[in-house]
Amino acid sequence: MALVRFVNSNKSPFAVEVKKGVSILNAAFSSFIEINHNCGGVCACVSCRVNILKGKEFLNKKSLLEKKQLESGGFFDEKTRLACTAIVMSNSKKNEIIVEVPPQEEIGNLTINEFREFLLK
Ligand code: FES
Repeated sequence: MALVRFVNSNKSPFAVEVKKGVSILNAAFSSFIEINHNCGGVCACVSCRVNILKGKEFLNKKSLLEKKQLESGGFFDEKTRLACTAIVMSNSKKNEIIVEVPPQEEIGNLTINEFREFLLK
């Protein structure tokens, strides 16, 4: 179990122990942390994007599909991940992953094209 700590602008930080193989999105679900997932968690949008502030080395590497999706949304930096495809790869509580959750109301239930337009404003 790794330690995943969620932080956002609205709530206090919340930490949860997460088993190896669990996605950041599922870790958020089990912690009652709201992360949009407009495509249902199948790496077909970018609404579940989060920023990994610490511990990215304890997650799987970005797949080509995840990179492509993020780049289509204008996210080229290393710290941005899709929560549905970012998988915890550690089983040690000493390994902490800090996940910044962007304000979800700004992302809302936009389609991928609406989301791109939102980003370009
Ligand atoms: S929920 Fe759509 S890419 Fe993660």
